[in-house]
This record gives sequence, C-alpha cells and structure tokens, in this order.
Amino acid sequence: MSIVIAVDGTAASGKGTLAKRLARHFGFAHMDSGALYRLTALAVLANEGDPAREADALKGARSIDLSRAGDPAIRTDIIGKAASQVAAIPSVRAALHDFQKNFLAHPPGGSPGAVMDGRDIGTVIAPDANAKLFVDAAPEVRAHRRWLELSGMGIGRNEAELLAEIVARDHADRTRAVSPLKQAPDADLLDTTSLGIEPAFAAALRLVQPRIDSALKASPRG
Ligand code: DC
Repeated sequence: MSIVIAVDGTAASGKGTLAKRLARHFGFAHMDSGALYRLTALAVLANEGDPAREADALKGARSIDLSRAGDPAIRTDIIGKAASQVAAIPSVRAALHDFQKNFLAHPPGGSPGAVMDGRDIGTVIAPDANAKLFVDAAPEVRAHRRWLELSGMGIGRNEAELLAEIVARDHADRTRAVSPLKQAPDADLLDTTSLGIEPAFAAALRLVQPRIDSALKASPRG
C-alpha cells in the first residue's frame, strides 16, 4: 500500500504549490488532478465541442493527451472555466477516476507515496488517505495572487473580473451534484489568507508530517 496525501481546496488557493512542495519533501510522486479536467476541456475546445454537453465532454475525457499536462495552454482562465463545466458531468468524472486511483495505488518511479491535489481527492478518490488537507483563502486574496501570477507572465487582467471568475468557479464546484468541492470531515483546514508560500508550507508540514511519520512506522519499506 502506498502512502497518500490528499490536498483539496478552492481555486487559486495555493493547493497545487503546496502539493508539489509536500511531494518533494517526502520524495513522493505528485499529480495535479485538475490537469486531467483541464486537458479534457482543451480536447473539447480543440474539437469545437461544447464543454457542457456530455457527448463532447466524454469524448474529450477519453482522448486526453497526458504529455500536455505541463503545457501553459491549459492554465488559461477560459480552459479553467471549461474544466469546471466538464467536471460537473458524472460520466467524465468516472472516465478519469481509474487513472487517478491507479496513480495513487502505484505511484510512478517506485515512490513510496503520492500527493494528489484537486477537489474530491479526500472525499471520493482517496477517502482513506493517510493525510488530508483542505486549503482555502479569502477570495480577494486568491484573486490578487492570480493577478500577480498573470502580471508576472505579462498578462494584464482586471482584478475585480478575476475575483468574479474565482467566486463563480468555486460556486459551480461546490454546488455540482457529483463529487462537489467540500472539506472531508477528517481533513485539516489550512487557511492561507495571511500566509506566504513558506509559512503556508511550514503550516502544511506541521499538519501532515506526524500522520506520514506514523504511516511510515506502520508500514516500513526497505
Ligand atoms: O485546480 P484547477 O483549477 O486546475 O481545476 C480545474 C477545474 O477542474 C476545477 O474548476 C474543478 C475541476 N476539478 C475537479 O472537479 N476535481 C478535481 N479533483 C480537480 C479539478
């Protein structure tokens, strides 16, 4: 059994950065499950399909190109919105489910564990995860971070518009019928509203480290 850290949270909360840092710290594999939904959205839009239409979205989910998971083209806000739409379709989630479960059961590179970030990792994909974080921050702070990130990439955006998009996406993710975004009852809440990256990582580690230490003790590898 591999060790699993589930990191869920709201849009632009910093969960991806924290998940990556945790994976590096523990020597675990990392997967950003949001990339699967974003790749699905990319495939749908490339085919001139409608991300809210089940047939189009399912076709997209079945034809994702994993080699593009690191492609900046999937990070745009247009893809983010379309990803949220395809993610509300149960058959799309089912099509991506086994891939995620398999990654956690057999982390690539023979890693002893895996960190996965998303919206339903601690609730649906890995309810038995050894450690679960739910990362959130005030919407205004998340919009500002996103604005800074985009400005750094030379993309000028109106911050109020970004805030409205983030609030709309959270609402869509929290209110969908299937696998909605919510904190698992046994997840630790990490509010990064007033925390920069380093203090947020230190806080995450304080919550996660004891759980991983006891998991490693219970199933030593060698
Ligand atoms: O984390 P992100 O912004 O890359 O996610 C893009 C969209 O994908 C998000 O709006 C909701 C969806 N998603 C999901 O429904 N379940 C996940 N495990 C990950 C992402």
